[in-house]
Amino acid sequence: MGESTFVQDAAKSAPIRVGVLGLGQGRSHLRAFQMLDGAAVSAVCDQDERLAERVAQEYGVSTRHATYEAMLEDNSIDLIVVATPDHLHGRHAIMALEAGKHVLSEIPMATTLEECRRIVELTDRHGLKYHMGNQVRYAFCLRDVQRMIRAGDLGEVFYGEGEYLHTMDDILSHRPPDHWRIHPQTPQTTLLGGGPHAIDTLRWLMGVDFVEAQAYNAEQPSRWQTIHTTVAIFKASNGGVAKVTVSYGMARPYCLYYSVYGSAGSFERTRDQGGAVEDTINFHYHTRIEGARRMAPVTVPNWSNPAIQRQHALGHGTMEIEQAQQFLHAIITDGEPEIGPREAARSIAAGICALQSAQQGGGPVPVPAFD
Ligand SMILES: NC(=O)c1ccc[n+]([C@@H]2O[C@H](COP(=O)([O-])OP(=O)(O)OC[C@H]3O[C@@H](n4cnc5c(N)ncnc54)[C@H](O)[C@@H]3O)[C@@H](O)[C@H]2O)c1
Repeated sequence: MGESTFVQDAAKSAPIRVGVLGLGQGRSHLRAFQMLDGAAVSAVCDQDERLAERVAQEYGVSTRHATYEAMLEDNSIDLIVVATPDHLHGRHAIMALEAGKHVLSEIPMATTLEECRRIVELTDRHGLKYHMGNQVRYAFCLRDVQRMIRAGDLGEVFYGEGEYLHTMDDILSHRPPDHWRIHPQTPQTTLLGGGPHAIDTLRWLMGVDFVEAQAYNAEQPSRWQTIHTTVAIFKASNGGVAKVTVSYGMARPYCLYYSVYGSAGSFERTRDQGGAVEDTINFHYHTRIEGARRMAPVTVPNWSNPAIQRQHALGHGTMEIEQAQQFLHAIITDGEPEIGPREAARSIAAGICALQSAQQGGGPVPVPAFD
């Protein structure tokens, strides 16, 4: 979608009024919507009232709701951003859809298949829009690659790898010791925590559904008493196979890695990363490149779209801005969001089934279809 199309569409309709629930990562979405024509952030809510007050003041948001229930009763809100801890997303998205609001949810969509099904059902029944915010699909360095693969440039895709490697030390460095991510009752899981960045992005790059999952957890205990590393293998709907590794335990810099292999060419991203907004190197190889004996390096700006970056950038570069823009476009034009409820459920169900496999010590688990 071009910027101009969006601006024309947005100018025609009243602004979509956004309420943001959960004001950690939720602040990135808040700022993204504030940067866009066609949206107005009208309310915030967080159970930490001091945080909510500070954020409302800092970002000039007029309404602060004391509870989520009160926010849902606010008729002036059209769209809720769900940015609470992972295990609450399903419940909070369902509550918003039942209250007649569109939803942009942080990853994961939910942590149970039942919640995924309920979200699909509610969006169908009420004609509401839902988008799961795997903003990595808007990474500038990956969008071209995805288009190239979709156009058949790599031939028939038969294998892909995705990795999310992010040490928990880094994630927890500015958090209290009882933070939900390591709380014994609500620990962040591997495949549904950072995992959707690997699973959903890889599935999108390969252009497949994952139909069966098997996984193992590393059994050595972590300092945080949580499972820190999972490796999953997925059978793909086109007969291919995929491998996903998620680790909060690796002693290495942050890394989001993908590779895709086809009958005519290959794509690999460098593993030497270390930061969300650093430039990166992607490698390509194609059988058409005569005499090539090495993968060809292509240096591209990493997350950020340079056209937007000149004006604004958030913690993850410009990805959340493009994501919010596309979601608004889907609402305004009654189109399908890019990671709509079924598309989100295909990735999250794969993660749920792989976690089930790992919990039972391995073995295949079929992934239900969301057609
Ligand atoms: N897409 C990404 O790159 C990305 C990056 C960071 C976090 N996240 C996701 O965003 C979500 C939030 O993570 P975070 O790092 O911001 O965590 P956080 O703990 O910093 O923030 C969560 C906030 O939710 C509030 N909250 C919890 N339960 C609530 C309730 N019932 N009602 C109102 N407020 C409630 C908490 O008080 C807290 O302020 C998680 O699902 C996380 O996985 C995604």
